[in-house]
Amino acid sequence: MTATTEQSDARAYPRLDIDFNTPEVIADPWAVLETVRAAGTLVWNERGYWMTADDRVSRQLLSRPEYFGQDGVMVEFFGADAFISIDEKRAHNELRDVWVGNFSRRAIAALARFVRTVADDMLDTVEAELKAGNRVEIMAALCRPLPAFVIAHMMGVSDDNIPLVIEWSDRMSEAATSGFPIDYDNDPYWLASERAKRDLAAFLIEQFAYRRSNPGDDIISRLVNSEIGERLTEKAMVANVRQLLFAGNETTAKWLGHILHILGERPEDRRAIVADRALLPGAIEEVMRWQGATQVIIRAVRQEGLVVEGVELKPGEQIFMLNGAANRDPARFDNPDVFDIRREPKPHLGFGFGLHTCLGAILARMEAQVVTSAVLDRIPDFRIAGPVKYGDFSLRGPTAVWLERA
Ligand code: HEM
Repeated sequence: MTATTEQSDARAYPRLDIDFNTPEVIADPWAVLETVRAAGTLVWNERGYWMTADDRVSRQLLSRPEYFGQDGVMVEFFGADAFISIDEKRAHNELRDVWVGNFSRRAIAALARFVRTVADDMLDTVEAELKAGNRVEIMAALCRPLPAFVIAHMMGVSDDNIPLVIEWSDRMSEAATSGFPIDYDNDPYWLASERAKRDLAAFLIEQFAYRRSNPGDDIISRLVNSEIGERLTEKAMVANVRQLLFAGNETTAKWLGHILHILGERPEDRRAIVADRALLPGAIEEVMRWQGATQVIIRAVRQEGLVVEGVELKPGEQIFMLNGAANRDPARFDNPDVFDIRREPKPHLGFGFGLHTCLGAILARMEAQVVTSAVLDRIPDFRIAGPVKYGDFSLRGPTAVWLERA
């Protein structure tokens, strides 16, 4: 890694050359992220994009979607018609508002009992294996299937089709497994995710027709029977429903993985939460701040003449907001590298900020609380049984976490 302030064009700014996709950086990115913070509030990465590790700058950029937009990665992932890709406030909100009811505090609270039942079903096998003295890989047994199962249920998918939907969701989640930039023509994970998108689209189109004549309260019915649903093309409806399946599964799975990994390694914290469940909401929030399930939020510069931190940016240039690093910004959090389940709550950037702030945050938080509670009720004395593996940097989180009884 090299740091200079050379001028390659008329602009002066700090420059670094960082590859975030090496196994070493993915396993432990924190020292490298601190070099970005130390270099400045806006830093050029020689790999071809701007970076900021700064909470204040990230919030500023995320609150100006008219200048800093989703062109590029989000549009490629979700399609231009999905509201996660739309930066015009009115058009974005018109679509997002279709589902505000499905993701409201009240609707999500009503789902908590169902989530506990799903978690308990999955934990039956886990508990039996652990009691028999075996190790269990908890990402595969619980953290990965549970969020996909829950969102498929919210979509009104029948039980026999849920495994199929989970399978497509897994393929789509692996799209960025090889890291950025993606080789859209050859990357096997990207190509597999494109196939899964096509299969899911065919399934959804059948569902649209069915839910028009058999409406319910589910996510698909809400769209097809809404006023905007009358006007949208099939392609746009697919993109909008698909994003709801895609955006939440990998992220929630990784968050659950971080939570169980951290509690497995910190018996004192785990025992404190077992003894006092009131500590749980703060503890899971601290996991999100300290480790996070996304490390990057990307925006592209939308017009000429925009100046950020004294640097004039060019249209089309991308800015990587390193939100995991921003969540350890010492200007916002005291002792930011310390994990403290009793930390004074303060909003972080783990679920984004501004127009595109996460629609599923209430759902993800409920799932994290219910699932962690279920694990602690049934297996209060677990520990980590082997090295934890990580996948990619952008959706950084454990891909395999082995547990055993302590
Ligand atoms: C731990 C779990 C989760 C994390 C860490 C997370 C993180 C994020 C982040 C950082 C963004 C902002 C993206 C951007 O600004 O470009 C976002 C947006 C979004 N998330 Fe989540 N998410 C999680 C769970 C979920 C769930 C469960 C769902 C839905 C089922 C969901 C649906 C969405 C949607 C639809 C958006 C786009 C919102 C908009 O454009 O208005 N997320 N999420």
